[in-house]
Amino acid sequence: MQTFSDELDALRAEGLYRSMRVINGAQGSRVELEGRQVLLLCSNNYLGLADHPALKRAAVEGVAFGVGSGASRLVSGTMELHERLEARIAAFKGTEKSLLFNSGYAANTGIISALVGRGDAIFSDRLNHASIVDGALLSRAGFYRYPHRDMVVLERMLQEKGGKGRRLIVTDGVFSMDGDIAPLAKLLQLARRYDARLMVDDAHGSGVLGATGRGSGELCGVLDGIDVHMGTLGKGFGSFGAYAATSGTIRDYLVNKARSFIFSTSLPPAVLAASIAALDLVDSPEGAQLREKLAANVALFKERLTASGFDLMGSETQIVPVFLGPAKATMEFSSELLEQGLFVQGIRPPTVPAGSCRLRCTIMATHEAGDLEQAADTISKVGKKLGVI
Ligand SMILES: Cc1ncc(COP(=O)(O)O)c(C=O)c1O
Repeated sequence: MQTFSDELDALRAEGLYRSMRVINGAQGSRVELEGRQVLLLCSNNYLGLADHPALKRAAVEGVAFGVGSGASRLVSGTMELHERLEARIAAFKGTEKSLLFNSGYAANTGIISALVGRGDAIFSDRLNHASIVDGALLSRAGFYRYPHRDMVVLERMLQEKGGKGRRLIVTDGVFSMDGDIAPLAKLLQLARRYDARLMVDDAHGSGVLGATGRGSGELCGVLDGIDVHMGTLGKGFGSFGAYAATSGTIRDYLVNKARSFIFSTSLPPAVLAASIAALDLVDSPEGAQLREKLAANVALFKERLTASGFDLMGSETQIVPVFLGPAKATMEFSSELLEQGLFVQGIRPPTVPAGSCRLRCTIMATHEAGDLEQAADTISKVGKKLGVI
């Protein structure tokens, strides 16, 4: 029998071993990493709200209601702040209701395994997030994965698979490792034609995309048609937690059936208060300015990297992958960048398919244009040195 140590050694040999890096201080655009100042290019704090004074103030005020929530929501862990935040999220997404979950991972596993079960069918983009895959596996429903954004294959699957049970089409709004956007208008059309519900995980779009930050649904003009909007509060919103924004009936159903909701202590008051402040900020003129700055930063960074000859894998958002291929070369590239003061993570299997390893650069509204120009030039210099471009 292979020991745990043997397996870890094998991961090391393949360049697939994972470990954590420790940041000292808040998630700013520059951080102190293991004693050195570096430019942070791998945070999902897209609007810079994780360290925003308004959120910090709100969190401190939230502590007036205690540190912990004391119980799960259905026992005694529903506070007035949970209800306020849920009403705020529903208003933001334009749905009847919303329901909080403790994280995006908990939301996807809980929502999917509640809405479908044995005899039902899930249709899922092959590049959907791991938490969607885990939710699908937990549900015991038929699990049909279509090639990335391939609507022809999806339609064929909808015609041939699933029988008479419930049908759920589920997709990332923004694909987390590729930065491209799901064809939501076509997905909605297919959902209606084949009597399926559409669930969109907009972890990376909410707060950031669309004219008012409502996310990929707003950008694609289909916000009203989505049956379940799943979103997270720990990325663009700079706080923590997640939600399903949906109809009153589906919300009630999730309260009764979603196990990750039912069997877990609820979010604490400081986090709830910070999330309400984050939604207010995203809806304010400052939020609009941050989205504009983010879009300008993204354009600048991509233009420079594209001009140097990198393959940015069709990114349409602030998630900018730089395709490299092999795992070892990707980790070598990432280490070399760190030497040069850039903190960029290499992404390897099982997060992405073998042979499609990449640097995943993420841009923030709080990056300075000059820093991004310099970063792109450093990436090009290292790319030339390692023979990638
Ligand atoms: C698309 C997507 N869905 C869900 C999650 C999970 O969200 P959370 O970090 O809040 O658990 C992530 C990333 O973390 C993600 O990228």
